[in-house]
Amino acid sequence: MLESDIKKINSICFNEKTEEVLSLLEKTQKEFWNLDRESANFLNLLIKINNSKNVLEIGTSNGYSGIWILKALEETGGKLTTIEFWEKRQSIARKNFQLCAISAEFEAKIGSALVVLQDLEEEIRNLKRDKFDFVFIDANKKEYFDYFLLVDKILKSNGIIVADNILTHYEKTLPYVETLFKNCDYQSQIVQVGAGMMISRKN
Ligand SMILES: C[S@@+](CC[C@H](N)C(=O)[O-])C[C@H]1O[C@@H](n2cnc3c(N)ncnc32)[C@H](O)[C@@H]1O
Repeated sequence: MLESDIKKINSICFNEKTEEVLSLLEKTQKEFWNLDRESANFLNLLIKINNSKNVLEIGTSNGYSGIWILKALEETGGKLTTIEFWEKRQSIARKNFQLCAISAEFEAKIGSALVVLQDLEEEIRNLKRDKFDFVFIDANKKEYFDYFLLVDKILKSNGIIVADNILTHYEKTLPYVETLFKNCDYQSQIVQVGAGMMISRKN
C-alpha cells in the first residue's frame, strides 16, 4: 500500500445514510471548500478525546465538517454553533444535517463571522450563554488573527482551537500563527494533516 493511500484510511463507522451523504459531498469538495476526510476524521477524534460539549465552527459551508463535528457531539452529548455568511450554503448545511438524522443539537448562525463573534461575546459576558470548549476556525484566512482576538474571550480554560489551512495559506494565516506561538496562555502545534491544522490549547 502506498503512503498516500494509507493516509486516506480511517476506521470510523457511520450508518449507511450518513456515509452516503458524506460520499456525495466529497464529490463537490473543491466547490464548497470542504475539509478532506483525513482532516474531518482528525477533527472528530479531537472533539471526542477532549470530551468537548460546546463547539463553535467558523465557516459552515455545506455542512461537511459540521456532520463530522455533530457525529462526535452525539457521543459527548454536546451542541454545535456554526457560522456562515452565505445563506444558501447554511441552508444546504441544515438539510445535510437532517439527511444524516443527527441527534446532536446545532445552531446555525448566518452573518459575518466577526459580527457574530462579537454578538456571542456579548451574550457570554451577559451570562446568556456558556463559553465554548472547542472552536474550529475555517473561514476567511486573512481574518484568522481577528477571529482569535474574539475567540480568546469566549473560550474556556483548557479549551481547544483548531485552525485549518495553516500550511496551504501560510502567508495569510501567519499573523494568527505567530500570535498563538508567542502567547504563553496557549500551547500550540501545527500538524501536517490535510491543509495543515494548528491545534492550540488554552492553559
Ligand atoms: C473553507 S469553507 C468551510 C468549509 C467547512 N468547514 C467544511 O469543511 O465543510 C469557508 C466558508 O466560510 C464562509 N466564510 C468566509 N468568510 C466568512 C466570514 N467572514 N463570515 C462568515 N462566513 C465566511 C465561506 O462562505 C465558506 O462557505
